[in-house]
Amino acid sequence: IPVDPFDLVVFGATGDLARRKILPGLYRRFVAGQIPETSRIIGSARTEMDAAGFRAFVAEAIEEFLDVKKRDADSVARFLDHLHYVAVDAKGDGGWPELAALIRRDVVQAYYFSVGPSLFGDLAERLHRHGIATPNSRIVVEKPFGRDLASAKTLNATLAEHFDESQIYRIDHYLGKETVQNLMAVRFANILFEPLWNARHVDHVQITVAETVGVGGRGAYYDKSGAMRDMVQNHLMQLLCLIAMEPPYRFDPDAVRDEKLKVIHALLPVEPDDIVRGQYRGGGKKGAAPSYAEDVGDPATRTESYIALKAHIANWRWKGTPFYLRTGKKLRGRASEIAIVFKEVPHSIFGDEEGWRENVLAIRLQPNEGMNLSVMIKEPGPGGMRLTEVPLDMSFAEALGEDGADIPDAYERLIMDVIRGNQTLFMRGDEVEAAWAWTDPIIAAWEARGDRPKGYDPGSSGPEDALMLLHRDGRRWREIR
Ligand code: BG6
Repeated sequence: IPVDPFDLVVFGATGDLARRKILPGLYRRFVAGQIPETSRIIGSARTEMDAAGFRAFVAEAIEEFLDVKKRDADSVARFLDHLHYVAVDAKGDGGWPELAALIRRDVVQAYYFSVGPSLFGDLAERLHRHGIATPNSRIVVEKPFGRDLASAKTLNATLAEHFDESQIYRIDHYLGKETVQNLMAVRFANILFEPLWNARHVDHVQITVAETVGVGGRGAYYDKSGAMRDMVQNHLMQLLCLIAMEPPYRFDPDAVRDEKLKVIHALLPVEPDDIVRGQYRGGGKKGAAPSYAEDVGDPATRTESYIALKAHIANWRWKGTPFYLRTGKKLRGRASEIAIVFKEVPHSIFGDEEGWRENVLAIRLQPNEGMNLSVMIKEPGPGGMRLTEVPLDMSFAEALGEDGADIPDAYERLIMDVIRGNQTLFMRGDEVEAAWAWTDPIIAAWEARGDRPKGYDPGSSGPEDALMLLHRDGRRWREIR
């Protein structure tokens, strides 16, 4: 379904995110027929460039970041016709009159701030001053949304000076992932799961976002954040909310976000013993692969590239059910999954069978998106009643055929939601602040103790101590493959 005509300005249009995700994503939506003929995409950055230069830049980005099957020369050429470019100075007045002359006031104006948060205020203010912030305007801001509660509050206050909350779209790209949205469909469109979705039946929940990549060229940013700020405060927190929240009364932005916010408020502070931080070592033959410290160029760095923690939600539904979260770089596999581990049946009529296991509902977010429910059956054969565990496995790609194989990138979906004016998959200001309010004391506690992260080998499943976090509760992590 096409959206209404729009003018989309991408500030930071020559940056990495624009090149890798935003611009190729817009092209994909164009191919899908969602971008109306009269819509325009206006690149903007400090670099002086003309429209032809920008078009060549975007054509290259499409070629580099979309595989051959997803692009063709004819549609790329037609897409490029929608592109314009205006160089602006975020901290001065250069370029703004030209930009203002280009923007139409009577269509949706979307301003994508694909720049560091230190420029959010400047951009918001200049959009206003030059008369191109209208009731039809929306602004899109990227993470990191601050680095603690105080800075997030300041950012929210700055943006609120110029825009209403209903015009502010804070991106957490995990919410744009098809499988993450599917969590809500699985929970709220099936009668099967909801009656079991509580502390009476769920033993614990594991949320894993494992990556094989290191920090690469992002060391300067990453070393000031670490896994807690970079991943847990936002992406893992969002996953936890979608798993733990009460059913919203409707699939509507504020109904959903109100329920997520309640989960964040109900999170208990995390005990220092319930956290393990790790940092990858160097590896490979003769130390060919750099360590984290080498990657960020600081031998004394104490930033974590891995974190595992146990969280508790103090509410009626989840009292006593731990949520184990872990995420890290340079791990054994790229595997993101949520596992709901159910309790054993209250009494086994088969006696203490060896190999007795729990039912586990595992939702694979990436790669090979799908769901797996482990169930117990009788082991075939005449050997008596022995039990065995079998998977009910579903891969979205197989189940949905071509539609499943061609899952749109998170950014494609989110940008179209901005144009449609649908904030359901975006974080509200109070949500971000609540997430920082939970995160801040955890970080402050380890900083005060001067904790050093534990080393782990690249290609492993993280530091040994992370295993202990579950072992001591009589549980174990699911394997990262
Ligand atoms: C980003 C983090 O938000 O998410 C990165 O800053 C991380 O450090 C990335 O690699 C992971 O996203 P995805 O979509 O590849 O799982």
